[in-house]
Amino acid sequence: MSATDAPIGVFDSGFGGLTVARALRDQLPNEDMVYLGDTARSPYGTKSIAEVREYALECLDYLAGTGVKALVIACNSASSAVLRDARERYDVPVIDVILPAAKRAVRTTRSGRVGLICTTATATSASYDDALVAVPHVQLITQPCPLFVEYVEAGITSGTELMDAAREYLLPLREAGIDTLILGCTHYPLLAGVISYVAGDEVTLVSSAEECARETFATLADAGLLHDEPRTPQLRFLTTGSPELFAGVGSRLMGGFVEKVEQVYTI
Ligand code: DGL
Repeated sequence: MSATDAPIGVFDSGFGGLTVARALRDQLPNEDMVYLGDTARSPYGTKSIAEVREYALECLDYLAGTGVKALVIACNSASSAVLRDARERYDVPVIDVILPAAKRAVRTTRSGRVGLICTTATATSASYDDALVAVPHVQLITQPCPLFVEYVEAGITSGTELMDAAREYLLPLREAGIDTLILGCTHYPLLAGVISYVAGDEVTLVSSAEECARETFATLADAGLLHDEPRTPQLRFLTTGSPELFAGVGSRLMGGFVEKVEQVYTI
């Protein structure tokens, strides 16, 4: 198989990376994909960076071993923990969710006040602060939103409870005068309706999923690795946990996008 024919490897702690996979499918419809969700050990967002790092590298090693042409770390918490190591460790391009979203936020903001909502792990790692360190006119205001992942996984994307949680998380950011808000967790595009409603029309949302897909296209194009011929792509979904659970939650969140799911035992 030539390098351009190989699939893109996509990794997340569980289901949130499916928003990245869907953006990849939209922007790169001729590309095969292998998606690995570490659902047996998710969520990552509540774990220490050291633990996330260990799990993420195991999963990325596994995906790299399947012969992918690029690795997409479709999880902000995992990107925060392993990005630098992953770039040195693998001989294929590695794309993360943090740098593309940070870049887009810099281009979007007019006031220079950018909000970041994310998991506790991503907030603790300060990875977005590091990504923006060379842009002193941008002030990042970070708000961890630990309940959001739970709502998404329970299939709750509206309703009073979620709205109350969103107000508690987002109103301080509004009061701080942000004009741009980074959805710094790949689960959050599924809550974009409520987040935008509460944050207000004047706040532009930056989705780490969309930006990561754009960056993946650019990286493959620059490396001459795009599959240019039209074809029906093969999409493989792997999970370290229950395939039935993955297929159930995955297709509920993504419509018909997630079909057959295989279990990975070897990690
Ligand atoms: N989707 C992951 C992220 O982008 C968070 C989910 C989790 O806590 O495992 O950070």
